[in-house]
Amino acid sequence: MADKYDYDVLVIGAGPGGYVAAIRAAQLGLKVACAEGRETLGGTCLNVGCIPSKAMLHASEYFDAAKNGAMAEMGIDVTPKLNLDKMHAQRIDAVGGLTKGIEFLFKKNKVDWKKGYASFVDAHTVKVGDETVTAHEVVIATGSSVTPLPGVEIDNDKGIVVDSTGALELKSVPKKMVVVGGGVIGLELGSVWRRLGAEVTVVEFLDQLLPGMDMDVRKEAAKIFKKQGMELMLGTKVTDCSVKGKTATLTVGSAAGGATTEIKADCVLVAIGRRPNTQGLGLENIGLSVNQRGQIEVDHEFRTSVDGVRAIGDVIPGPMLAHKAEDEGIAVAEWIAGDTGIVNHDVIPGVVYTWPEIAGVGLTEEAAKERGDINVGKFPMAANSRAKTNHEPDGFVKVISDAKTDRVLGVWCIASVAGTMIAQAAQAMEFGATSEDIAYTCHAHPTHSEAIKEAAMAVTGKPIHM
Ligand code: FAD
Ligand code: NAI
Repeated sequence: MADKYDYDVLVIGAGPGGYVAAIRAAQLGLKVACAEGRETLGGTCLNVGCIPSKAMLHASEYFDAAKNGAMAEMGIDVTPKLNLDKMHAQRIDAVGGLTKGIEFLFKKNKVDWKKGYASFVDAHTVKVGDETVTAHEVVIATGSSVTPLPGVEIDNDKGIVVDSTGALELKSVPKKMVVVGGGVIGLELGSVWRRLGAEVTVVEFLDQLLPGMDMDVRKEAAKIFKKQGMELMLGTKVTDCSVKGKTATLTVGSAAGGATTEIKADCVLVAIGRRPNTQGLGLENIGLSVNQRGQIEVDHEFRTSVDGVRAIGDVIPGPMLAHKAEDEGIAVAEWIAGDTGIVNHDVIPGVVYTWPEIAGVGLTEEAAKERGDINVGKFPMAANSRAKTNHEPDGFVKVISDAKTDRVLGVWCIASVAGTMIAQAAQAMEFGATSEDIAYTCHAHPTHSEAIKEAAMAVTGKPIHM
């Protein structure tokens, strides 16, 4: 394929979408290059997203368990002392190991890493730094960046008003942190600093946290976070933010309008969403436009409106999740190689890695109801033997199925290991399972996953342990 061009495929961006696409295309026998502007491979996810946030969540979970009495409850008396520098060092170490791992995989699969930011000259010609690279197919996998809050200036170096990247690297534990946005980032990173000793207030524009998730889950999550000591200001908007010395002053008021009040904090985390990275890519040179949300529209083969140019990951519509980007990376490479690449966009699990974890796949109860008659089975974690034994009573599992066919339409969990539990639900849904299929599948005892079986049994009103 590459005769006329330097490469069969040039991938722009080496995040979970781009690096996976590049590796899969190379595995399929294509000549591949991947352009990346960052110093290291792995994109947002490995450098400043999924991985460093999980490193801080995991470490802070231990600290919290020692500090809040959870360990003492099991007969382990400890008084924890925080070594924040060391906690950061293990985060940096995790990131370093994994980004180097991608470098190794590129070498192993003979993917050429082109260092620098890429910009289209024409549909098959891209400038990467000082180099010009031509390719038969170009895949845009440039990901996303933080959405700014108008009038609020982010300065990660000062560490007073920060985005998620700054919030991962705070040099000391804030006394008071205000999180603007009660979504995934706000709750995960807000949890990290709350566990380490900060007083955390979450200001969320909507009436509930976690938009897009099942309403029962959103309400239960709010109860749990409040119980943990987070202050939640729902239905509230920030109208102003100023910094004087080391203190930020936020003006907040009801989302509906009316009177405002001021909150002072030594750290403000802005986490109100992310937007696709398309600026500087030279899309105008190839006549490729973006939709109203700034995303690049594609068809099911990830083809854009420009011949030879495809796009995947956060830069196209759909949930901004690493595993969604990865699956699209595999699929786009398979299409380019002449195979059929499949991503089932109806079955993409989402996980919030708080304590407990919050996970879901498929339709919410609200969305399922809009489509037709449904049955719902729910089972509380308080009645699950393993969760009870582990002192983890919070949460529940909910299974939603079609009333006529019993096909599972959605599964939602709040449980300490919900992120792991949701995999079986996704697999069941991928195979078109009914709630009865799950109910009659033997689950090991004692496991948290038995709660999924019991919730499936509850769809027909017959759970055993409730
Ligand atoms: P990205 O990972 O954003 O990678 C795009 C890459 O392209 C970047 O490295 C960028 O430097 C590069 N690039 C951009 N423009 C150019 C250009 N012109 N030329 C060359 N290179 C360019 N998702 C999960 O599923 N699980 C999680 O636990 C999770 N945690 C997260 C935590 C945080 C704090 C954040 C911010 C995000 C998290 N996400 C998580 C989301 C996840 O990181 C993204 O969905 C995922 O990284 C998207 O992958 P991508 O390949 O589309 O883009
Ligand atoms: P988000 O979309 O999850 O949440 C943003 C929240 O901010 C929403 O609840 C929204 O209503 C609120 N908001 C918007 N404007 C506001 C305003 N002016 N004032 C107050 N609240 C406002 O976005 P977030 O948390 O920034 O995360 C970005 C993306 O990163 C998400 O799409 C998510 O998929 C991904 N991510 C995934 C993780 C995971 O899978 N565990 C972890 C972290 C991020």
